[in-house]
Amino acid sequence: MYNIIFVGAPGAGKGTQASMVAKKLNLVHISSGDLFRQALEQGTRLGKQAKTYMERGVLVPDEITIQMVMEQLSAPDGENGVILDGFPRNLPQAEALDSALDRQGKAINKVVSIMVSEAELIKRLSGRWLCRQCQTVYNAVNSPPRVAGKCDKCGGELYQRPDDKPETVQKRLDVYFAETAPLIEYYRRQGKLLEIEGEGSVEEVTRRIVSALPAEKLATR
Ligand code: AP5
Ligand code: MG
Repeated sequence: MYNIIFVGAPGAGKGTQASMVAKKLNLVHISSGDLFRQALEQGTRLGKQAKTYMERGVLVPDEITIQMVMEQLSAPDGENGVILDGFPRNLPQAEALDSALDRQGKAINKVVSIMVSEAELIKRLSGRWLCRQCQTVYNAVNSPPRVAGKCDKCGGELYQRPDDKPETVQKRLDVYFAETAPLIEYYRRQGKLLEIEGEGSVEEVTRRIVSALPAEKLATR
């Protein structure tokens, strides 16, 4: 059982890396942002509730978010462990997660903090395209799809996230530094933090993360 959190600013590559690393280590990838976007696409009550917050670039209230992620965590396919991407995002969420896992006799093993400069974050977000069906992430400059507008994996339609407009990106960055960055100290104090340089190619960053993890995994077993 190996439970990992990926933390990092918007555009740091949490989603891209979580999906690569989850595949390599046979873990379940749980992305709170993807769950909200799926709910929005399906027009559910959860999606409608989340929409007003997401389009402003602010956090969805904890009571909505925590319940949604906990439901995913208790699903049976996560017996090898999970990668949490985009959750927790503030101290109350981190504390709720710790106590929920504790009640199940589980814990977070490692927290991967992906570090990228602000100029690079802004560049990445302005070129991001996503698949409406399977959420695969592309970048118009760095990793374009084979056919413009179409997902390589499932043929789904690609779209740009409405919260990737420049003014919302700035708000999301402000929210990250004010509310989420303090989690880095929280996990450093617990001895769980791995700081990974997030610039370089996607494959390079994946290699850095995977090579930092197994030794740590053996150490925590
Ligand atoms: P969420 O979906 O989590 O967005 P985010 O944290 O802003 O992060 P992003 O998804 O924008 O970036 P990423 O780090 O995943 O980067 P990616 O891999 O896509 O949250 C959205 C909203 O939902 C929030 O604002 C909030 O409202 C709500 N929400 C979600 N979770 C919540 C929570 N826990 N509590 C409350 N509210 C919550 O990569 C970005 C781009 O860069 C892509 O184009 C990619 O191809 C490219 N790229 C990736 N790696 C590289 C590389 N190495 N080199 C060059 N380009 C790269
Ligand atoms: Mg993401």
